[in-house]
Amino acid sequence: MEKKNISAIVAIARDGAIGHGGGLLCHLPADLKHFRLITIGHSIVMGRRTADSLPLGGLPGRQNIVITRSRTYRREGFTVAHSLTEAIDAATMPGEVFIIGGAQIYAEAIPFVDTLYVTWISATFSDADTFFPDINPDEWIQLSRDDHDADEKNPYPYSFVTLQRRR
Ligand SMILES: NC(=O)c1ccc[n+]([C@@H]2O[C@H](COP(=O)([O-])OP(=O)(O)OC[C@H]3O[C@@H](n4cnc5c(N)ncnc54)[C@H](OP(=O)(O)O)[C@@H]3O)[C@@H](O)[C@H]2O)c1
Repeated sequence: MEKKNISAIVAIARDGAIGHGGGLLCHLPADLKHFRLITIGHSIVMGRRTADSLPLGGLPGRQNIVITRSRTYRREGFTVAHSLTEAIDAATMPGEVFIIGGAQIYAEAIPFVDTLYVTWISATFSDADTFFPDINPDEWIQLSRDDHDADEKNPYPYSFVTLQRRR
């Protein structure tokens, strides 16, 4: 079978923080728009807790794949997988397969990720309880970086960065 390109996409605040209380750390509409633009038309893979945090269910225009250990879990709009390998095998949409979190799934998937789309959020969240694994700068080449100031809709400065694994 043709090798699939694995990507991950994540928004990371200072100290590697990515979540709090089962949800995101802040509302950053520019990042949601960026996330949609990058992932639309592709398969996206997420942990069951991240799937549960999506109030409207699966994200439109994408194949939503959820990983759970439960053999009885079903949710409309989701393809259910029981391991990362099963999830990647189940991906049917063209192009990159996107790992979209959360922390458990990022930690398991990161060794297989070729391209990492990071939104760096310049803010500290002292109540964060979920973190991205350390990104070793020796392992990645920065392909692009796009810096933005805070504005009336986006309360913190942020940068869209694309990293590619060194081969
Ligand atoms: N900042 C960002 O870009 C971003 C992106 C996504 C998520 N998040 C945040 O991250 C947090 C959620 O992350 P999390 O680490 O708590 O949960 P998670 O990774 O979303 O989901 C964990 C669940 O995935 C399943 N799972 C994990 N490893 C598995 C394996 N090897 N085989 C089978 N199933 C497996 C288990 O489901 P079962 O318990 O059902 O077995 C486990 O409870 C939330 O706060 C969310 O908002 C942030």
